[in-house]
Amino acid sequence: MEEDGIIVVGLDIGSTKVATIVAEVFSSSINIMGIGTSETSGIREGIVIDLQETVNSIRRSVDEAQNTSGIKISSVFVSISGNHIRDIESKGLVTIARPDKEITEEDVRRVLDNAKMIVLPSDTEILHILPREYIIDGQSGIKYPIGMNGIRLEAEVQVIVGSTPFIQNIRRAVQGADLEIEQLIAAPLASTESVLDPDEKELGVVLIDIGGGTTEIAAFFDGSLRRLSILNFGGKHVTYDIAKGLQTPINQAEIIKKEKGLAMSNLAKEDIFIDLQLLGGRGEKPIPQHILCGIIEDRLQEILVMAHDDLLKLNLYNKITLSIILTGGTSNMKGIDILAEKIFTTTVKTGAPRLKDIKGLTNPLSDPSFATVLGLIYWGKKHYLSGSRDRRYANRKGDWFKRFVHFFKRFL
Ligand SMILES: Nc1ncnc2c1ncn2[C@@H]1O[C@H](COP(=O)(O)OP(=O)(O)OP(=O)(O)O)[C@@H](O)[C@H]1O
Ligand SMILES: [Mg+2]
Repeated sequence: MEEDGIIVVGLDIGSTKVATIVAEVFSSSINIMGIGTSETSGIREGIVIDLQETVNSIRRSVDEAQNTSGIKISSVFVSISGNHIRDIESKGLVTIARPDKEITEEDVRRVLDNAKMIVLPSDTEILHILPREYIIDGQSGIKYPIGMNGIRLEAEVQVIVGSTPFIQNIRRAVQGADLEIEQLIAAPLASTESVLDPDEKELGVVLIDIGGGTTEIAAFFDGSLRRLSILNFGGKHVTYDIAKGLQTPINQAEIIKKEKGLAMSNLAKEDIFIDLQLLGGRGEKPIPQHILCGIIEDRLQEILVMAHDDLLKLNLYNKITLSIILTGGTSNMKGIDILAEKIFTTTVKTGAPRLKDIKGLTNPLSDPSFATVLGLIYWGKKHYLSGSRDRRYANRKGDWFKRFVHFFKRFL
């Protein structure tokens, strides 16, 4: 008999677009049923700057996903970004007083609760608490303590926090579109779910999601998160530099960036010229491609150097080799991997979402700008399959229909 799937919806509120995916998740596969995207000007660098415009963009994106999937969307897994989101290292400690000394799920919950007891600045709230490792009676490096014996259980964790007013505004925008929030997930974490595989996380990897308004960084080693941070720069800044530098309208700058742009000026050909519209309708002017690429290179270099400097705050960074994977819309820029290799002096790859075991409407998802929204689906899948079934049937396909059929069967 075919396994019954669960409908999961991901809503990625980005700085340039709001993306929605409706998927039916099974234990070993995901069926993409509907996708919606809408441009937005309500979000800047991950922060809501225009609530009504954000609500409208969410509605447009969700409506499209609803129409393509035929599913009425009521609750969503939502991404959250902005440089107010950051990580804090913490430790928890509990003793196991029971005579059998066997560590239970409840003990793990207690030790994680204990690790949460950190003094946070006012208006800051915890989004995630991610265990790095457990220590039982001094023995470190334990990933799954349940069922083991011990007296003293410690947990080393990475706590992801964000600023309450900014988080509240995202909640308001989603609720303003008449949707319930299943969970808010830090955007870089969501992207790692769809782009990285467990081996990469084990061996050491840094995912850098360069979007429109932000650059989101998540570093993993030994299978667990070691650093998460978000920078206030992305592809929009590249576009604005082109518009200012070449005196061309912003929409033109965006088009030539995507069509003729390269991440390094020395990759450009000497004899290629671009016909550029000038600001204010002041005619056209041919400009050499290498001039355009020089502007792009300067800004991307600045962003990548900031990401590199951010990783230097991770003590581990200089001691081990972490490979770098770039994703997000801006990683589409040709040559960005070569530029990044010069800065990080390690292997850099560009990474679109992995589509293994994903069926249905997969075509658009090979674009790296879908990394976060697809990651939200993976996140939702894990959430439901791990037994947190509190809202299991929220978006369930045809649930109302089944109830309707059952109701009438009683009279047959
Ligand atoms: N082919 C391309 N070449 C260069 N840049 C591109 C290309 N395609 C998309 N981009 C850029 O990617 C950016 C959008 O990326 P993405 O959709 O990942 O951002 P977002 O999720 O909306 O924003 P953020 O994650 O920063 O909040 C835009 O700045 C866009 O110009
Ligand atoms: Mg994004």
